Amino acid sequence: MKTVAFILFSFIMVSCTTSTYDDIEEIQIENQGELVTFQDVAFVFENICTACHSNPPQNGAPMPLTNYAEVKNAVETRGLLDRISRNEGEDGLMPLGGPRLPQQQIDLITQWNLDGLLEN
Ligand code: HEC
Repeated sequence: MKTVAFILFSFIMVSCTTSTYDDIEEIQIENQGELVTFQDVAFVFENICTACHSNPPQNGAPMPLTNYAEVKNAVETRGLLDRISRNEGEDGLMPLGGPRLPQQQIDLITQWNLDGLLEN
């Protein structure tokens, strides 16, 4: 049983690593070396998150995510990156109730943070 779990774990680790590198590579090609800005990631928040994180927020969401300042603040003070990076089915994963965002969108938002949370 332990062996099976270990093999499964290794497999998951390998597949995660592979897809992450591929996705980052893709994003870099798409952006041709330019920094990721809010303009590149806003569609995710507009299409998915504002179903609850509207202004005023609905369905028990604690804050809005309807513009640059609100999303930036949530990255800096509310663990937004952690929430979208959790595993499928894990407590606290956003969007609430799933499905998890496509890995490429998670990577793009992560890169936006690494690039300094620029607006434009
Ligand atoms: C179906 C409704 C719903 C959707 C869609 C949703 N959320 Fe949430 N979100 C909630 C609720 C309810 C909470 C409060 C409960 C909790 O913290 O898990 C919350 C909490 C959070 C928190 C933690 C806030 C804090 O101060 O602790 C973050 C960050 C967050 N959401 C980000 C997002 C992002 C980013 C998206 C889109 C990818 C998203 N949410 C989509 C309902 C939603």
